[in-house]
Order: sequence, then C-alpha cells, then structure tokens
Amino acid sequence: MGRLVVVSNRVQSPDSAPAAGGLATAMHAALQQSGGMWFGWSGETSEGDVGDAWVREHEGITYATVDLNEPDYVGFYEGYANQTLWPLFHNRVDLAVFDRVAFENYRRVNERFAAQLERLLKPDDVIWVQDYHLIPLGEELRQLGCRQRIGFFLHTPFPPPEILVTLFNHKRLVRSLLAYDLVGFQAPDDLGSFKDYVVQELRDGRAADGTVSAYGRTTKAGAFPIGVDPAAFRQLASSSSARRYAARVHKSLGGCRLVLGVDRLDYSKGIPERMAAMQTFYELHPHARGRVTFLQIAPPSREDVPQYRTHKHEIEGAVGQINGRLAESDWTPVRYVSKTYTQARLCGLYSLSKVGLVTPLRDGMNLVAKEYVAAQPSDHPGVLVLSRFAGAAHQMAAALIVNPYDRVEVCEAVHQALEMSLDERTERWRALLEGLEKHDLAGWRDNFLAALAEGGCGAVAES
Ligand code: F6P
Repeated sequence: MGRLVVVSNRVQSPDSAPAAGGLATAMHAALQQSGGMWFGWSGETSEGDVGDAWVREHEGITYATVDLNEPDYVGFYEGYANQTLWPLFHNRVDLAVFDRVAFENYRRVNERFAAQLERLLKPDDVIWVQDYHLIPLGEELRQLGCRQRIGFFLHTPFPPPEILVTLFNHKRLVRSLLAYDLVGFQAPDDLGSFKDYVVQELRDGRAADGTVSAYGRTTKAGAFPIGVDPAAFRQLASSSSARRYAARVHKSLGGCRLVLGVDRLDYSKGIPERMAAMQTFYELHPHARGRVTFLQIAPPSREDVPQYRTHKHEIEGAVGQINGRLAESDWTPVRYVSKTYTQARLCGLYSLSKVGLVTPLRDGMNLVAKEYVAAQPSDHPGVLVLSRFAGAAHQMAAALIVNPYDRVEVCEAVHQALEMSLDERTERWRALLEGLEKHDLAGWRDNFLAALAEGGCGAVAES
C-alpha cells in the first residue's frame, strides 16, 4: 500500500497532550502505527488570506495544516458543520440552522483544503477523509484530477432519510459521498440509513452487495466500528500519574463510591437527562446519600455556538438544583467539572470509579465507553452502564444497556451496578474486554484500508 494520508478537520498537534476519546486521539494512534501524512485545520484563524499549508515532520508523521480565515471559520465550522450537520446527524432537527450562506463557506473550505492537499500528494497515496466537516472533499479532489484511492469515514451517526431530507441541499451532500471509492460508517444502523436514503431519494438509487449506486456511479459502503488500543489504556491506567491522581480523588471522596461520567459538553451526550436519573437514584435509594458521589467531567466544546452555550447553562442549572435539594454540609451528590483532563488522569478516574455512566441520546460510537472498560483494574472492575443509542451498544452487550430517556431505568441500572457481585462484574468486564481486543483500533484501520484497497478508482458523479 502507498503512503497513508489522513484528512480531518482537527489535527492532533505533536506539541499538545491528547484529549479524552474522540477522533483526533484515534487518528493519532492509527498514524503512529503506520506513519504517513495528516492534513487538516491548524486550529488557528487568521485575518484575510490564509496562505499555504504549514508542513512539518514529527516521529514518522508529516503534519500539514492550514488556517481558516474568520468568516470561513464562522460559516464552515460554527455554521454548517456544527449548527446544521451535527444536530441533524444526531436527529435534532429542532436545533438545526438551515443557512445557505454557511453552506457556501463549508463548500469553499472543502475546495481550499482540496487545493492545498492536492499539491502535497504522491500518485500512490491512499487518502482517508474523516467526518462530516469534509464530506465534499473527495469530490473536490476528483475535480482537480486526483485518481488516488479515496475513502471517507463518518464518525457520527448517519440520520434516517426522513430527518436528512429536512436539509435544503441533502441530495447535493449525499451525491458528493458517491465520489469516494469507499464510504464507512460506525454501525449497521448508519449504513442502513445511508442505503435507505440512496434508494429512496437519488435518481436510479440502488443498494446491494456492499455497494450503493446512483447517478451512474457505484461506491462501496460498509460498517467499520472504530475501536481503541486496550493495551495503551491499561498501561496508562497503571502509570504513576494516573495512580497519583486516583489516590488524590479517592481521598477527597471520604469513603463515597464513585459513579463517573466523562463527555464533551454536547447536547447529544444526554448530560441533563443523566443528572435527572442520578437525582431519581438518590431519591429512590436514600441509603446512597452520603455513600455515593456522581462526578461528571464535561470539557467545554464549541463554546461560540449558541446551542452549546444554552446547553451549558442547562447543565449548570441541573447540577445546582440537585445539589441544592439533596446536599448536606458534609456531602455533595454531584461534582461537576467543566475542564479538559489528560488521558492519564481520566484513566485514573476510570479505574477508581465503580460505575461508568455513558448515556448519550445519540452517538456514532462513543470511545469513552471503550476506554472505560480498557482502563478497569482486573481484580475489581467497575460496571459500564451504556445507552442503547450509542454505536458502541452494538458491540458491548455485556454492559448494562439502558434507554437514556428513561430516568428510572438509568437509576435502577446504577443501583444494580453498585450492588453487583465481584463475580458478575468480572464476567461482564472480561466479555467486554475480549470484544475490545478483537475489534481494536488497528483492526479498524486495517479493515477499512483493506476494503479501500480493493475498490476501483472513483469519479465525479453525473449530475
Ligand atoms: O467525534 C466527532 C467530532 O466532531 C470530531 O470530528 C471532533 O474532532 C470531535 O468531535 C470534537 O469536536 P470539535 O472538533 O468540534 O472540537
């Protein structure tokens, strides 16, 4: 195989510590193993002309990053990507903003990324484009004459057709996916929604045998659930920095057992619903008061997007309400921390907690669920409570699977987890870990790239 070129909006800078979960951490690990080039946004905005990509080498990876100018940042990142596609792909039509000007920024940024990237490509490169920010990139590259194999992977869910058709330019968007040789999704449901859309909405749309066709073009499509590197998380959890941090937090808990949530501060993660479930838990199980603490870590995210600001206030209100109602002078039911922790500290917290509460309302995969399991101590593992609406639920049946909208069901799962015998906890954890090892990050990358290597060369779809 030729050089791997990963393209994503976020690029994990070689100078900064990786954040929890998420795409950038996964791509960094995938590239560390194979080497190659990582192309994307620098994370910087600049006035006026943004200039050429900045290229540098670090430990076998070539980093090529470009700035965005302010209007493009607003229209592309804050606008079409995160106020249109993100809510729609998470079934939140009520939060989606339909703005044609923002789409123009989105299209233009993809066009610029393609022009910058094309100059850095070699003929036998294999290009792997990531996520909803960059859906049109493959088509832009084809229009510049790129004949390399190009694959696309969507880290978010793909919405059912009846949701997607609320978007003013849904056909144009999906048609651009057909310029790729391979389109990958997290879960079979997402693949199913994509096929349903193609068949129902596109001219001559067909789906069969791992391919979709429309507009005279055939593209391979499959489900490739992303994994983690379990050994890396196990190692991190036993590092001195993780242990030191866990010991510090353990001391502060004063004997309380820890229930833990770790999520980017995003409305798809179901944090207010989780708070409500924990309030119900303390109300229905009063003996847990003073004996159990719920810690929610929620690193700030997309803070300039209005829906995220509103959501932050909603969570802060919910935390204040529970604590105001239930706290005692010597016990606080909910600790809420809105900051970014290193992975080592998070692993320390994962291994300290008795319950990992991962209850998104909708999630492509949710790597925190997998990291939580990987970081558990083998002699006294904690229990994962997992939303049925996370892509990870398809692979993690040994977790306690819950409906995150049902606060009583979540509350009872937390109770069951805290009461669970060591034998049952160990049995469930072993089954989960076995799954993580079988479907790990390297396997995800290799399966996707093998399927991409088998495909034919893409072309721009007929309009
Ligand atoms: O996992 C989905 C995703 O949007 C990634 O593409 C992204 O890197 C991550 O969430 C964090 O979001 P953002 O890049 O907007 O901070």
